[in-house]
Amino acid sequence: MNNFIFHSPTEFVFGRNTEQHTGRLARQYGARRALVASGGVSARRSGLLARVCESLTEAGITVCQLHGIKPNPTDTKVYEGIDIARTQQCDFILAIGGGSVIDTAKAIAAGVPYEGDFWDFFSSKATVGMALPVGVVLTIPASGSEASGNSVITRTDGLHKLSLRTQYWLRPKFAVMNPELTFTLPPYQTACGIADMMVHVMERYFSNTTGCELTDRLCEATLKAIIDEAPKVMNNPGDYDARANIMWAGTIAHNGICGTGRDEDWACHFMEHELSAIYDVAHGAGLTAIVPAWLTWMQAHNIDKVEQMARRVMGVTPADVEGAAPGAKPRLVALEGIRRLVNLWQSLGLPTNITQLGIPEPDIDTLVCKLHENKGPTVGAYVKLDHTMTRQIYQSAINYQPQ
Ligand code: NZQ
Ligand code: ZN
Repeated sequence: MNNFIFHSPTEFVFGRNTEQHTGRLARQYGARRALVASGGVSARRSGLLARVCESLTEAGITVCQLHGIKPNPTDTKVYEGIDIARTQQCDFILAIGGGSVIDTAKAIAAGVPYEGDFWDFFSSKATVGMALPVGVVLTIPASGSEASGNSVITRTDGLHKLSLRTQYWLRPKFAVMNPELTFTLPPYQTACGIADMMVHVMERYFSNTTGCELTDRLCEATLKAIIDEAPKVMNNPGDYDARANIMWAGTIAHNGICGTGRDEDWACHFMEHELSAIYDVAHGAGLTAIVPAWLTWMQAHNIDKVEQMARRVMGVTPADVEGAAPGAKPRLVALEGIRRLVNLWQSLGLPTNITQLGIPEPDIDTLVCKLHENKGPTVGAYVKLDHTMTRQIYQSAINYQPQ
């Protein structure tokens, strides 16, 4: 096990009606004038935006607003938000929504006190050394941004989707998490969120660092809980306990605890970010179009964790490969595990290859070129993937079918 720092200082306020505490919480973390950031229509339509603004006003906080942040958020809204926050002298950013709104809020928070272009932080020209405090009212469990120090923004010029990773500055001060707020999610968004949190765990599970049994078990338990709860929320969107478990799983998947003590991978995320930057697909669906091809490539090149996940998470047993030659068994177990994962994602209505994602002729040259331009000559750590390998994986993901 590697040395590590685990720093997850966010105050999570979880349960029914918790959004009514937003004003008090924001005040507690110093808010006097808050910029409230929200997405397209959902928070306004449900009345959540009005309720939260009322809670802020009751706490004596002046409210300014930034509406209309879209999925796969771009720099345009960040510049707009920085401008409003500076002009209105906001001292706090409150995000109401999911990853897209939260990430925009974080980028604004870093950009307001910085004299240069906020994009410098994303292009690694500058390091965040100061930021306005950010609070969150979460409406979709998926990105884990309510618990992470990261922000993912696409630069409109050139469609570069880059992630800014900070250990301290951009972790939200608090996250209000009421599972009832997720009852209105369309099934596809619910499923995309479930897939995203599963892959957040997998990016940490697929590691060559040895001696991390506890971290492995945390990952496996989180994945198994998600797999059990997923059909429940799909079949009954108003199942409070299932929604609550999924919501909390999204946080556990990405607050860092599932990666403690070891190297992490993140190749599938980097490969997906190119898909959602260019084709504007939902991030979770982009992941399920890439991961099966990635796993299948991995079982041929570094099988250990693929086989372990098949046994411990997907429930593949010796009986499932009975009769096979002993030397062939690990591979068959791994492939059966991948098949079960694909079946699960398909049962949630998710694509498991790029064609099903609605991109029958993806521009592989551009995807590979931009991936390595943005992320360097290799991506991932479980196997370091160079451009030849990422090309193979993208290529096999176009019409991927389980073996
Ligand atoms: O805009 P509105 O009308 O609110 O609709 C949203 C949006 O269309 C809708 N929605 C959200 N809550 C709802 C709801 N609809 C009905 N009822 C509700 N309660 O859902 C749609 C998707 O929202 P979005 O915020 O885009 O989803 P998600 O949380 O999946 O965020 C995706 C973004 O996060 C990034 C992704 O790359 C993508 O850009 N990520 C951020 C990470 C981080 N900061 O740590 C890590 C992740 O790996 C990811 O890369
Ligand atoms: Zn993700």
